[in-house]
Amino acid sequence: MPNDAVLKLEGKDYSLPTIVGSEGEKAIDVRNLRAQTGFITYDDGFANTGSCLSDITFIDGDAGILRYRGYPIEQLAEQSSFVEVAYLIINGHLPNPTQRRRFGDLLREHSPVHSDMAHLFEGFPIGSHPMAILSALLNSLGCYYPHLATNRPQEDLANFEEAAAIAISKVRTIAAMSYRKSRGLPYIFPKRSLPYCENFLHMMFSMPYEDYVPTPEVASALNLFLLLHADHEQNCSTSTVRMVASSGANLFASTAAGVCALWGPLHGGANMAVIEMLASIHAEGDDGSKFIENAKSGKGGNRLMGFGHRVYRNYDPRAKIIKASFDKALASLGIKDDPLLAIARRLEEAALKDDYFVSRKLYPNVDFYSGLIMRAIGIPQNMFTVMFAIGRMPGWIAHWKEVASNPKNKIYRPRQVYVGPTKRDFVPLEKRG
Ligand code: CMC
Repeated sequence: MPNDAVLKLEGKDYSLPTIVGSEGEKAIDVRNLRAQTGFITYDDGFANTGSCLSDITFIDGDAGILRYRGYPIEQLAEQSSFVEVAYLIINGHLPNPTQRRRFGDLLREHSPVHSDMAHLFEGFPIGSHPMAILSALLNSLGCYYPHLATNRPQEDLANFEEAAAIAISKVRTIAAMSYRKSRGLPYIFPKRSLPYCENFLHMMFSMPYEDYVPTPEVASALNLFLLLHADHEQNCSTSTVRMVASSGANLFASTAAGVCALWGPLHGGANMAVIEMLASIHAEGDDGSKFIENAKSGKGGNRLMGFGHRVYRNYDPRAKIIKASFDKALASLGIKDDPLLAIARRLEEAALKDDYFVSRKLYPNVDFYSGLIMRAIGIPQNMFTVMFAIGRMPGWIAHWKEVASNPKNKIYRPRQVYVGPTKRDFVPLEKRG
């Protein structure tokens, strides 16, 4: 074919088909490479590997573009809400008023957890990390709803609407309950009358003797945070969800695996790591310049957390939106001078002028400012990555569905280049030196 790639290998020419995506992204189709040539591809960290065809999210990392189902993130941030965007990501289209109402009703219906499930929290020691609790309890949902977790994709898909609503609604209830548990506080039940974000804040911060009522600015800052995290194509946690789903595992098991993958500091854990970094710079009385020098030299394993991205070689558009919404949220909370924010601004300014960061195209990513927003609205630090997980749930669900409903689904099973010892004979214990 005219657009095929030609590979010259050991004196032979091989023709490999090419694929062009709807936004012009080009790929060489290597699915038959090993059968044809005996070679596999090697791509540490999968930086050049397209693992699937997907119609959920488009990113142009060089131009700093992010679109959910074709809609620019800036328009959604300005005009939509997390719940509506969750519907869009999962179903592929914006809901009409009836669909929007039904989706809201399903989320309300599924907001409480099963009373037996509440006992599971008791088994965790005080101080347990809420990410560990979240992952364990999400996975356990399959035990409470066995008809939604058969591990037979066609059967699980038949009840997908219910399973998706349970996952989106309960992730927030479980998150709030794990926080209450970690602080030894009594659980607060969801209220049917409250919208998604207000209900979460109510479960987090109300007391049996007093309701917590957020200002509209705080609720909308949370709404924006969740919306901006709703999907981000083949990142570490979403690829994990797809990998688990490819074996036929149910939605709850697959998304619980996503939570574990999200936890690390190079992925979702970066929002916590940014605050830790800013706090330590503040505690040391550094204006940021010493830290930047260490990050450049890699001294002490330091990196400028919240900077750099595998895909964006430009300003992360989510970071731009969060940064722009800052002043409104801080003003509504009466926060005038946040020393950590001042350090973050100084670090950003210095890094964007520094040749090390400029030449490597390292710009602020979503986590650089998102931790500061969470902190400003009163979310405790060990909950930051949990907040990311709540926001990412619609994306994980949509990717699970894409895998489960693909009639040509193949189990994810990469190959490797073995570099270990060649065959050798076993040596009995007494003969080993
Ligand atoms: N500070 C200092 N140097 C960095 C940083 C950083 N934050 N990020 C990358 N570099 C350097 C890196 O040392 C390497 O330098 P050299 O070419 O001299 O060896 C070069 O830039 C390329 O880095 P890389 O590690 O090959 O890039 P990657 O695509 O594998 O890693 C990343 C991407 C996000 C893991 C990395 O940039 C990083 O560790 N950033 C800090 C953690 C962070 O903010 N993570 C959140 C990502 S956004 C939210 C999400 O989607 O999870």
